[in-house]
Amino acid sequence: MVEFTLPKNSKVKPGKIHKLKGAEEAHEKDIWRLHVYRYDPDTEENPRLDVFEISKDACGTKVLDALLKIKDEIDPSLTFRRSCREGVCGSCAMNIDGTNTLACTKEMDDSKKDIMVLPLPHMHVVKDLVPDLSQAVDQYASVQPWLKADTPAPGERERLQTPEERAKLDGLWECILCFCCTTSCPSYWWNGDRYLGPATLLQANRWIEDSRDDHTNERLEALDDAFKLYRCHTIMNCTKACPKNLNPAKAIGNIKKKMMDKSE
Ligand code: SF4
Ligand code: SF4
Ligand code: FES
Repeated sequence: MVEFTLPKNSKVKPGKIHKLKGAEEAHEKDIWRLHVYRYDPDTEENPRLDVFEISKDACGTKVLDALLKIKDEIDPSLTFRRSCREGVCGSCAMNIDGTNTLACTKEMDDSKKDIMVLPLPHMHVVKDLVPDLSQAVDQYASVQPWLKADTPAPGERERLQTPEERAKLDGLWECILCFCCTTSCPSYWWNGDRYLGPATLLQANRWIEDSRDDHTNERLEALDDAFKLYRCHTIMNCTKACPKNLNPAKAIGNIKKKMMDKSE
């Protein structure tokens, strides 16, 4: 039988427990208890799960509120990304209770018991809850996510679309590039160096569908590759994971259909 060994220092160990103290002590039902992944590349130590008790009386209700409170009042070394606090920047994506989602929109009371907070899965961890998204961002840049028009801009006015043409971008433009979908995709886990993943493919489809873009065929040809596009096996984890309720699997299906239409 094949035997696997984990890489050195990969085992996640129990960490520090930060209990509520003194006047803050509260009944169990009035506490949120978060188990938070900690990893510091500057030490030789294994990753660990620290436990933080937060009084419901003293904190907002979202996971990001608790992380900010922990950073402000308990452990300033806790590291995570965030910016908008309202689900539009995509920075605070992480894995909460086993699901990739946004910490700023995730209600802590959704959890039936303790709240598990981990970085997005299957990515290298820079520190604590910060994944290394360099590869995913480079892949996004590779689809040239900007308008490529061959005609000069029409003077004072924007390039016009009919309502029908504009409607084709709905369900695509709303993507906030949080990569919750990409990091939940098994095909990306195994072939992330060559498969572009659902976030980038949804964005590619956004430009393929744009009536103002003159490079549709060139965009399709660039994706016509056994790995870049066709590693998607319609498992649908991506669509289930999207916190903006978008459908990357459908967008990928649309690219495949356009590819077939082009070759007929
Ligand atoms: S549908 Fe495609 S992109 Fe989405 S999770 Fe499945 S394999 Fe990945
Ligand atoms: S499709 Fe959804 S999950 Fe994927 S990057 Fe865009 S907003 Fe995030
Ligand atoms: S902080 Fe911007 S999406 Fe959460």
